[in-house]
This record gives sequence, C-alpha cells and structure tokens, in this order.
Amino acid sequence: KKRAPMPDDIRAAKGGTPLVSLTAYTTPMAQMMDAHCDFVLVGDSVGMVLHGLPSTLGVTMEMMIMHGQAVARGLSTAMMVIDMPFGSYEESPEQAFRNAARLMAETHAGAVKLEGGVAMAETIAFLVRRGIPVMAHIGLTPQSINTLGGYKVQGRGAQRNALVADATAVAEAGAFSVVLEKVPQNLADQITADIPIPTIGIGASAGCDGQILVVDDMLGLFTAFKAKFVKRYAELGQGAEDAIAAYAAEVRERSFPGDEHVFADEVKK
Ligand code: KIV
Ligand code: NA
Repeated sequence: KKRAPMPDDIRAAKGGTPLVSLTAYTTPMAQMMDAHCDFVLVGDSVGMVLHGLPSTLGVTMEMMIMHGQAVARGLSTAMMVIDMPFGSYEESPEQAFRNAARLMAETHAGAVKLEGGVAMAETIAFLVRRGIPVMAHIGLTPQSINTLGGYKVQGRGAQRNALVADATAVAEAGAFSVVLEKVPQNLADQITADIPIPTIGIGASAGCDGQILVVDDMLGLFTAFKAKFVKRYAELGQGAEDAIAAYAAEVRERSFPGDEHVFADEVKK
C-alpha cells in the first residue's frame, strides 16, 4: 500500500505532475478524497463553510483540532496539512511554535499552513528549524481581510513586486510549498518559475505546481457565494435540497415510511 507523502515528497514534486489537493473537515469527506489527493488541507475555511461564520477570523484552535482529528481518521495515503487559525501565530515565533506543536500533536497533521509572506518569514524559519514543516499562503490571505479591504485580486500593478518578494521570502525561510490565492495568471506563472518550491494555485494558474479548492465549493454544497476561481464539478447542494423536499412531501401525504421500512409484529418463519 502507498504511504502518505511527506513534506519533502511534496517539495520534490516541483515541476512534475501537478499536485492535487482539496480541503476537508470531516471523516467521510476525507475518506472520499484520500486516494485521489496528494495532500488534504484542514482549512480554516471550515468556519465559513460548516459553521456559518462571516469570515475565517472567528475560527479557534479548538475548532481546528476537532476537525483535524476527524479528517485524520479518514486519511491513509494523502498527507494532512492543517491551517493555523487567526491569532494563533502572528504575535511571535514562540507563540506560533506553541500552537503549531499543539496542532501537530493533537491531530497528527504532517504540516501546518499559515498566511503571510515577508512578514511571516522569520516565523516560518523558526518553526522549520524546530521540526514543523510549513506550507505558506500568500496573495489573497483571508485572515487579513480587514487590512486588505476586501477579497480582491492581489499582486496587480504596483503590488506585483511585493508579491514576488513574499514568494521568495517564504521559500528562503524554508516553507516546503506555498499557496498562491487569487493572483494574476502571469504573475503565478512567473513565481512558479522563480522559486524552488511548489506553488499551489487557487485562483492563480494551471501552470502552478498544484491546485487546491474548497471541497464544498467544488461539490456545490456551499452556495452562499461562488468565487470566479471555483469550478462546480457537482451540484450536491441542489440534490440534497431536492431529497429533503421529497421526504417532506412524502411524510405529509403518509407515503413514507412505506411497507418496506416498517416492522411486522412477528418475524415470518
Ligand atoms: O482555508 C482554506 O480553505 C484555504 C485554502 C483555500 C487554500 O486556506
Ligand atoms: Na485557510
């Protein structure tokens, strides 16, 4: 049986067959994607996708640990990466280490992901030197929504050089890969060519070294809004609502439960 990749295997996939990844928050979803994904991200998107929060800012360590443990039970051949939630790492490298170590110890994740480029490079290096593999995340970083001023494309025009600097900084700090979210295609291609670690695109470019999507987005389960970069591979939310409506109608007309769903007084010989 295939073993789960390690961060160094992900790093070594630079320039090869694109890396496949999705988010997951529950055991059954993790089981469905285990054989198809190189790594699975327990994203802090869980706050918006499963908990009805307005942004990722309200996600806690406890939520990440609970969902991380659920996902870990569903994976055997994909690596698990877990997001560090807002407020758990930005204060100092020491704070980041303490919380990253707790996430790894309590969920058995193979790596953590945190948002930020140049500003987080020192923290990334601190973690990596102490045994914690780090995936970086630059471009649109949803935990900074209040300073970015909205979910806009990042790295256009005068911002371009700053984004290249972010990518270079996280690679030099020792991150084993970097998520590029919502950046122009030609900038994603330039960064992918420039840095020695795999770029994982979301709203970036098919030229990235891998891709990630939020699983509930691509399955049509999360429908509050749809970003341009989301491709709907299924409409499971509509299917679920149709099923619920059919059940409600059958209960009201007493056609459910049917004869095949009920029990006789005595077992037939
Ligand atoms: O939380 C998340 O789902 C993410 C991915 C979109 C990269 O960070
Ligand atoms: Na995230």
